[in-house]
Amino acid sequence: MAKPGLVVVGPLMPRVMEGLAPLFEMHKLWEAPDKEALLKRVAPTTRAIATDGTKGASREIMRELPKLEIVGCQGVGVDAIDLAYAREHKIIVTNTPDVLNDDVADLAMSLLLATIRRIPQGDRYVREGKWLKGAMALTDTLRNRTLGMVGFGRIGKTIARRAAAFDLKIVYHTRTPQTGQAYLHYQRLVEMARDVDILMVIVPGGAATRHLINAQVLEALGPRGYLINVSRGSVVDEAALIKALEQGKIAGAGLDVFENEPQVPEALIKMENVVLQPHVGSATHHTRNAMAQLVVDNLKAWLEGKPPLTPVK
Ligand code: NAP
Ligand code: 8YV
Repeated sequence: MAKPGLVVVGPLMPRVMEGLAPLFEMHKLWEAPDKEALLKRVAPTTRAIATDGTKGASREIMRELPKLEIVGCQGVGVDAIDLAYAREHKIIVTNTPDVLNDDVADLAMSLLLATIRRIPQGDRYVREGKWLKGAMALTDTLRNRTLGMVGFGRIGKTIARRAAAFDLKIVYHTRTPQTGQAYLHYQRLVEMARDVDILMVIVPGGAATRHLINAQVLEALGPRGYLINVSRGSVVDEAALIKALEQGKIAGAGLDVFENEPQVPEALIKMENVVLQPHVGSATHHTRNAMAQLVVDNLKAWLEGKPPLTPVK
């Protein structure tokens, strides 16, 4: 029997490509000079898409593929996939939860420490020979600080376990308080921001969380407060963040994600009290391979008529 077609939206881990090649006729969309023509040509036999959390799967792409049944995403965040269209057309969407929790949490804590203790600035201080002329200025501390978790799901809890080992007091904001949770829940984000020293953002992206971190929340966080964002750029009103940093309304920020990545505003690049990362929360060999394997296992299970392992509910 002929292999079903699979459209790969952008480059994925070799493990995805090698794992799926024996099962599917692979069509690399990003390599096609005329993407529309490719989609039209492969539409009659294409039943699956493989993508990642950044490129996702737009309505425009999915609409070109009337036989589409499943989208396998290498990433836990599925905000770049048109879920409404998928639901309407009974298209299964799978993602890669849990396998990335530890590495994303490590990056979140690294970003927090790097921002508060000015690690990149210290590195530059040594390289630029400034140490020879005198000691670097003292920095802020994590001692006696309260960490406000914005989002307390799989990754949020993994970050909190690490933060607890640093003796941080932990509180959290989610839409729904969690039963049996020892940490204090805030229903109103602005109230939590007022009470904490650090906001750690780890909610999904998309319309429901767009600009959740706005001027009012930053103002409430205050001039001694820090913002760490490892979720999605869309969750933070970047213009409001730049303004708050410029005006000293917050002390600093550590950012792994941006509103228009890989474009990062020049204003942020110039700021000394900001630490920037190129969306690398899950970007280790170990975790990216585990994510890739889960993409393969999901699509393989579906092809064999079994339920996918990690469908998005
Ligand atoms: P998860 O287990 O689904 O947890 C999401 C948390 O966010 C839940 O506690 C949820 O609680 C809360 N939440 C959802 N909508 C909210 C809203 N409108 N207001 C307040 N809280 C809200 O997800 P996860 O696996 O931890 O992943 C979280 C996100 O991290 C992903 O979706 C992705 O965007 C991002 N991520 C980034 C990287 C990176 O490389 N930087 C890597 C992996 C993941 P309620 O439902 O009760 O509100
Ligand atoms: C990936 C992520 O880098 O899982 C997510 O939601 O943001 C990251 O793990 C992203 O999906 C691109 O592959």
